[in-house]
Amino acid sequence: MKTTIVLVGYMGAGKSTVAKLLAEKLALPIVDLDKKIEESAQMSIPTIFAKRGEAAFRKLESQVLQASLQQTGIIATGGGVVLSKTNRDLLKDAWVVFLDCQDDVLVQRIFNDGQNIRPVVQNKTAEQIKEIYQERKPFYDEVASLTIDTSCLTVDEVVQQIIQAQQTIGYLGPVNSFSFQALKQVIDHQKVVEFASIPLCIDALLKEKLDFALVPIENSLEGSVHASVDRLYDQKECYVQAEIVLPIHQQLIGYDAKQIKKILSHPQALAQCQKYIEEHFPCAFLEPVQSTTAAVLEIAQRKDKSLAAIAGKQAAKFYQVPILASNIQDNDFNQTRFWILGKKHFDTSRLTTSEQKLTLYITLPKDSPGALHKVLAAFAWRDLNLVKIESRPQKTKLGEYFFIVDLQVNRPHILYQNAIEELEALGCVVQNLGMYPVLHHS
Ligand code: S3P
Repeated sequence: MKTTIVLVGYMGAGKSTVAKLLAEKLALPIVDLDKKIEESAQMSIPTIFAKRGEAAFRKLESQVLQASLQQTGIIATGGGVVLSKTNRDLLKDAWVVFLDCQDDVLVQRIFNDGQNIRPVVQNKTAEQIKEIYQERKPFYDEVASLTIDTSCLTVDEVVQQIIQAQQTIGYLGPVNSFSFQALKQVIDHQKVVEFASIPLCIDALLKEKLDFALVPIENSLEGSVHASVDRLYDQKECYVQAEIVLPIHQQLIGYDAKQIKKILSHPQALAQCQKYIEEHFPCAFLEPVQSTTAAVLEIAQRKDKSLAAIAGKQAAKFYQVPILASNIQDNDFNQTRFWILGKKHFDTSRLTTSEQKLTLYITLPKDSPGALHKVLAAFAWRDLNLVKIESRPQKTKLGEYFFIVDLQVNRPHILYQNAIEELEALGCVVQNLGMYPVLHHS
């Protein structure tokens, strides 16, 4: 996340209002250039214009801008800051948000505020105010890293767009993978970065090169995606921010069903279509690749009729390879759970869900009879509903495991906290991956 954000835009665009809320949400200091100018000149802006003239004001404006850009925080500029070429060159090195707006709305706001507070528009007609806006617009465009048309947005929505535009989410690519389909359900303005493998994606998050990572966690036919669940063991850097449940329909993609000798796909997808493959292509060689989409890409590049891929419809459409058989997964209820991981809160407010879960990784004390029973009892007597339990090797020596426990969150939160404390008192190591909303998509 960039720590200096400069807001530019015409008079009445809402720069100061947006800056205030943005600074509050990001816990960053706010710098209001006009206020700084007034402080340094010890008089109001209309007085500076009247006594010293506009040129003197612009000089002060440049000095204050230059000094403010050295600091971190949210900088609200005055509408005319972009008039100077020197200022524009300075702004090009910063992350600048242009708060644009329909000129009618701007004029209305300027009239509502009273024209006396802004000497540039004093005694000007609506048409003249619009002309000045048109003259300046190319300058705002020139310095903007992000432009938001605020005409129909609330201040909250503008702030949310700015925050999202600064966030980066990694996913198991390429574009059109199932992870990408899940991602599309929950992102608005964030930047997305594709990764060739799940561990690479999670590692980038752990190294703070990403704000969030979206990875598959479990498939209804094939169970846990071990590359994801195991990589999350024994770390304190990422938590589950949201779960997305996506129906998965697999397609056989290639050029000629009669000539197929080899089928390429992600191991999970090959396993999800085991029955179909055994029935229709019992002699085909199965080649696991990094992702279902990578399999289609390979087929599209090689144009080899003896090859086929198993992947989603979107991948076939994207790479223009025919679908030879549809919905070949072993049952129609094939679904995959994906997690959005990160340290920060991921905003899912535009999607409604009442379902919430909690995931814990629990390591039992060594050689203790009935230890798992005691763990389950801590949940049972509090009436906490266990929706999944699975053991995974600790990857130390044979016989050492940790347990992945998912609980439905429908009871007072204090009960979950107390259960964790009880488990710790029993000698368990509890890694809390967090409480998160569960979003279903059809
Ligand atoms: C100006 C805009 C004002 C203030 C000064 C000049 C301009 O700030 O800097 O009156 O030339 O557009 P706001 O854009 O915050 O009104």
